[in-house]
Order: sequence, then C-alpha cells, then structure tokens
Amino acid sequence: MRTQVAIVGAGPAGLLLAHLLDRAGVESVIVETRSRVYVEARIRAGILERSTVDLLREVGLGERLDREGDQHRGIHLHWPGERHHLDFVDLVGRGVTVYGQTEVTKDLGRARDAAGQQVVYEVADTALHDLDTEHPFVTYTTDGRSERLDAEVVVGCDGSFGPSRAAVPNPVTWERTYPYSWLGILADVAPSTDELIYAWHPDGFALHSMRSATVSRLYLQVPHSTDVADWSDDRIWSALDARLGLDGWTLRPGPVTEKSVLPMRSFVQQPMRHGRLFLAGDAAHIVPPTGAKGLNLAVADVALLAPALAALLRHKDSGPADAYSDVALRRVWRCTHFSWWMTTMLHATGDQFDAQLQRSQLQWVASSTAGATGLAENYAGLPIGF
Ligand code: DHB
Repeated sequence: MRTQVAIVGAGPAGLLLAHLLDRAGVESVIVETRSRVYVEARIRAGILERSTVDLLREVGLGERLDREGDQHRGIHLHWPGERHHLDFVDLVGRGVTVYGQTEVTKDLGRARDAAGQQVVYEVADTALHDLDTEHPFVTYTTDGRSERLDAEVVVGCDGSFGPSRAAVPNPVTWERTYPYSWLGILADVAPSTDELIYAWHPDGFALHSMRSATVSRLYLQVPHSTDVADWSDDRIWSALDARLGLDGWTLRPGPVTEKSVLPMRSFVQQPMRHGRLFLAGDAAHIVPPTGAKGLNLAVADVALLAPALAALLRHKDSGPADAYSDVALRRVWRCTHFSWWMTTMLHATGDQFDAQLQRSQLQWVASSTAGATGLAENYAGLPIGF
C-alpha cells in the first residue's frame, strides 16, 4: 500500500491528524494495534480546553460536542472545612467544556468513516523503516499476512509504549514517577456538584468530576501498588465522603460501573522528530492526569503538525515541519509543569512539611487574584501556538 502520510495509532491524535490532513488535501492511512471497539471504549479524562473546542468546531466536529458538552466556568478547590470556587471566565475570559475523550474519539471515528479514511485495526509487529530517507515505510502483520505501507512521512501517534518513540535514535528524555496512583470510578449517579472539585486531604487527594447529568466520574489517591480488589464500592464511597466532605453538602453514592487504577508519570522525549518521522501526543510526552492535559496536548500537537506536513508535502516548504518540534515543545513543557504543579500541590506525601506548604499554596491560590489567575490561565488552556 502507498500513501502520503502513514499514521501509527488510531487514538484521538492519529484520527484528528488524519482529519486535518484530509482537509488540507493530504492523504493518509492509519494502522492501529488494538481493535476499534477497544480504542473507542477506553476511558480517559473529559476536560476540553477552549482552543481544543474551537479547533474541533472549526473542522466540523463540533455538532455533538456543542449539544452534549457541558460548559464549566471554573473549578472548586477544597481542603478540610473549606471549599473555594475559582471562576476562570471572570479571571481569564474562558472556561472549559466537559466532554469525555471517548466521545471525541467516537466523533472522529464517524467523521473518518464518512470520508472513507483507511484505518487498519488489530495489526501486529508494527515496525518503522528508512526514516532518514524521503521514502520511509511501515511494516506490520494483519490476519497473519505481512504488509508494507510506503509513505513520504510517518507520524507516531502510538503512545509511550508504541514503536515510534523507540525509533528515534539517541533522544533526550526526562521522567518523573510519583509515589502514588489514582483509583478512578464511573458511577451511575447524578454528580453531587455543579463543577469539578479538586480536594486536598491528609488521607490523600480526591476529585469529583462528571460525564453527564446522570454519570459521575471520581478519583482517589491510592498507594502505588494498590489492588483494585481491595477497594469495595463501600470503601471507595466512604473514602470519597471523608476527603470531599463539607458541612451542608452531601456526596450522593451510586452504582459503580467501572473501576481502574491509573499510574502517575511525567515524561518528555526530545526532539519530536527524526528525519521523516514526527511524534505527536503520548508518543512524545506523558503528563499525570491532574489537570486533564493529555488529550488537549495531543490536539495541540496535531493542530501544528497537519499544516506543517501539508506545507512540506504539497508546497515543498520544509520551514514549518523543521520548526514543529521546538514550537510543540514550548507548550508541552508548559503543560508538563502545570500538571506536575497541580499534582504536587494536591497529593499527600506523608511528610508534614510538604503538607504545610501545600495548605499555604492552596490558601494563596484560592484567596489571591494573582494566584488564581495563574491556575485559571493554565487550566483553561493557552492558545495552540503558545
Ligand atoms: C477528569 C480527569 C482529570 O484528571 C481531571 O483533572 C479532571 C477531570 C475526568 O476524568 O473527568
């Protein structure tokens, strides 16, 4: 098979890249290890920055998002005995949209179906070749057959465990693992809050998020090696109640429909390009979930990459493609810092000095316009080319 851009990975980064390339007159084929059902069902965060929503609308993907997405003006910051609302719209002129990544992926999948996009699911043994020539190619097996996909450019949208990241020789990498994990649940119960609650508590962090008027999404800080089996629904609800509790407010429990443990890691690999291979999304960088930046960063990467590849392949202008890694990494590092900052401000470490610093910082962010504006600007998101 031959195409202009071979995309490895059919998550939101790969699908959106294919969509943007198609609109710019560039053809692509996507290969993906998992099945479509798996890709569309995997649960991720659900907070979209303004620039993400603007882009999705601009490229014809805003219809269901506008109908079903929930507009939030800000978040609540909580610690024992206190809850403060930060109004991002007042502080920085923009809020966020609550709309699950699973929904974005389904919308992208339908749009690509309608456009006749070629996506080969459930491939194995994916390997990238001749990346430092103008004729790179990808090999894989499907249904026991070996296949070869020739292209002019290969884009790795295959996450941190995929083959693309590993195909960059001698990258510089940075990594931080955090000494705790998150236990996330989906519950069939109306959210007990209008907007998200981020809670600091000596027992550990808790977050009350939501997916719709009838589905809540909640998280608890848990020890690294925790076993989901140790967390009965009752134990989860009582831990959430202790960490999120406030006089005059009640947490409504309900049937838990999904339960999983999420690792907490920061990772950046530079550069995001090697010859005719470009990396986008989790293939180049991982953020811990606090602040929900992962999807937004992936969208920002491909929003920069699509016009850069169109300039390269259609107009033989390599300027934007040459600038891609440096431009994308500015925002990557901003979000890497913000996600680390939110994480370290809100998670219990067992150290009393850390706890005092966290309480002081929370107090400052909640009571000072300067402090609140910094959080709001980063959370609601910076412009794509920041
Ligand atoms: C969600 C996840 C996050 O990590 C976050 O900061 C906010 C919301 C979510 O899944 O809804």
